[in-house]
Amino acid sequence: MASRYQETYARWQADPEAFWREAAKLVDWVREPDRIFDANAGVYGRWFPDAICNTCWNAVDRHVENGRADQLALIHDSPVTATKRTLTYAELKAEVVALAAVLQDRGIEKGDRVIIYMPMVPEAAIAMLACARIGAVHSVVFGGFAARELATRIDDAKPKAIIAASCGIEPTRIVAYQPLYDGAIAQARHKVETVIVLQRDQQIATLTPGRDVDYATAIAKARADKRDVPCVPVAATDPLYILYTSGTTGQPKGVVRDNGGHLVMLAWSMENEFGVRPGEVFWAGSDVGWVVGHSYIVYAPLFHGCTSVVFEGKPVGTPDAGTYWRVISEHNVVALFTAPTAFRAIKGQDPKGEFVRKYDLSKFRTLFLAGERADPETVKWAENQLGKPVIDHWWQTETGAPMSHNPVGLGALPVKYGSPGVPMPGWDMAILDDAGHEVPRGTLGNVVARLPLPPGSLPTLWNADSRFKSAYLEEFSGYYKTADAGIIDDDGYLFIMARTDDIINVAGHRLSTGGMEEVIAEHPDVAECAVIGIIDAMKGQVPCGFVVLNAGVDRPADEIEREVVALVREKIGPVAAFRTVVPVKRLPKTRSGKILRATMQKIADREDWSMPATIDDPAILDEVEAALRGKGIG
Ligand code: COA
Ligand code: AMP
Repeated sequence: MASRYQETYARWQADPEAFWREAAKLVDWVREPDRIFDANAGVYGRWFPDAICNTCWNAVDRHVENGRADQLALIHDSPVTATKRTLTYAELKAEVVALAAVLQDRGIEKGDRVIIYMPMVPEAAIAMLACARIGAVHSVVFGGFAARELATRIDDAKPKAIIAASCGIEPTRIVAYQPLYDGAIAQARHKVETVIVLQRDQQIATLTPGRDVDYATAIAKARADKRDVPCVPVAATDPLYILYTSGTTGQPKGVVRDNGGHLVMLAWSMENEFGVRPGEVFWAGSDVGWVVGHSYIVYAPLFHGCTSVVFEGKPVGTPDAGTYWRVISEHNVVALFTAPTAFRAIKGQDPKGEFVRKYDLSKFRTLFLAGERADPETVKWAENQLGKPVIDHWWQTETGAPMSHNPVGLGALPVKYGSPGVPMPGWDMAILDDAGHEVPRGTLGNVVARLPLPPGSLPTLWNADSRFKSAYLEEFSGYYKTADAGIIDDDGYLFIMARTDDIINVAGHRLSTGGMEEVIAEHPDVAECAVIGIIDAMKGQVPCGFVVLNAGVDRPADEIEREVVALVREKIGPVAAFRTVVPVKRLPKTRSGKILRATMQKIADREDWSMPATIDDPAILDEVEAALRGKGIG
């Protein structure tokens, strides 16, 4: 089948407003959009400025009304607890309504913020939808972050309530959440009035009287009282959620998502980009704490009337490298979306694909990869083992949906290994040099998108319009800076090669090396430090911290190294995967004092590098190289 991509993209280019007006028909509106885009509102304009809607209605209620009441909405498959649970759309609605009633009873109203700090349990999705139902703004915080990270988000979002679980379950340990949320609440300046705690059998939390509510008891009461909570109409431009993501400092950026644009973009993407039909089973093997989890575990599959898998486990070790294939065959999954790192992990343990052949994957159609660069070797391995298309696509927390894709729903384009496809409607990409001039095709440069951003992309950062402008819009006037470096080839395919800032990508998780440096600098024996990302065969990158100790420190270096590792784990969380500290006498710098992180990274990864012309003292790079090799790096 010839792809309809070119024709579709051209239609968007010719008349973006007509294109999005048509796409908006996929949504049930309380008041349909009359105006599609207001260029004078917000920072760069706002989508659907006069429309009114409710996100929960579109994800849940309308399907119950339209014949999907008994269809499964969620399948919770949890190898770490050896349990499975399903919820039909009707059951999901009942759970969401009950939790919405509990929230209302605690005084939570439209516009109030609620933090959700939960592992991969259906209640995480229920909590998001309950907030959406009453117009409250949720902010999900990934369970692998430590108390301080949670406290930072509490102080920025100022939530009235936190919905938490008593614990998360990692393959090797139970992660008690109570010390984390209690610690965060104690550290935060903003005071949280309510904590709704989902008790899990593996670790029961002690409830704080007056503050904490037992999730199950409160839900049972709301259901027994037959509470009904209708969907609250909100403006399409009202915020649905805030999702914090790493910036260049320890202060994360609160990405805002609106209701209307998000609904339109995600609904459009399911059919056209992912080629999935209502009623089919879709699985995003991510976590609700990340944008992939927001968009493709919870919202998009439910908007589209699909069944979504909520998987609580890992691609390997729960119990083996065949788990993904078991889930696909058992639940009739037609499309899986995950990060390449998961496939590198599986390939590492099952290089010949012996587990793959144990399961019936006949219903499975497509593997989608994103979150980090999909290395051609991994893509080819997956193609060979599965015998199905493997589709790389590229996006960011900020964009909420893919910027580039190989849109199988419109008809697949030829795959180019190493490329996450072509720009999607809404995205007019360009490659600029550092001075802001467009470079010839095939030349590496800054990947930018012409403004305005399409529906579903961030309209701003939470309470931080000026940070939004300075971080994304000011460097290249008229464009959104993705902070990725890449190439557009002669056929219009993108190749995303690296970040242009200090963000690193560890197992598909986005982390700020600047944030890690801020933590390491707190160690009393550390005079100076620098963190870089170095190549890791499974995780893509892992952080590596160089430390210069204060003069006169004579404690054993390995003791200090252990303390630094523990400090990052305590302050940022285990997700940082920070394990390597390299003590050095001095850090290489330019004459103006800028640390030469990029050169250090090239030395660590044994890439070609040249002596920076502005280096202060070239001998320091030899010291860095010796210290790295001493640690067995490179
Ligand atoms: N709560 C508490 N701790 C968590 C956590 C959570 N929700 N998620 C991860 N952690 C911990 C892990 O236990 C681990 O701790 P450790 O240092 O004690 O071992 C650490 O954070 C790093 O976790 P993770 O990145 O998951 O690494 P891993 O070595 O446990 O597993 C993979 C590696 C590749 C299997 C895993 O990262 C993975 O499945 N990734 C692919 C899917 C994905 O999540 N993509 C992200 C966005 S698309
Ligand atoms: P996050 O906001 O956590 O989704 O991370 C976004 C970043 O991950 C992007 O800016 C890229 O650097 C990287 N990324 C995501 N998807 C891809 C991809 N398909 N190919 C290359 N890099 C990717």
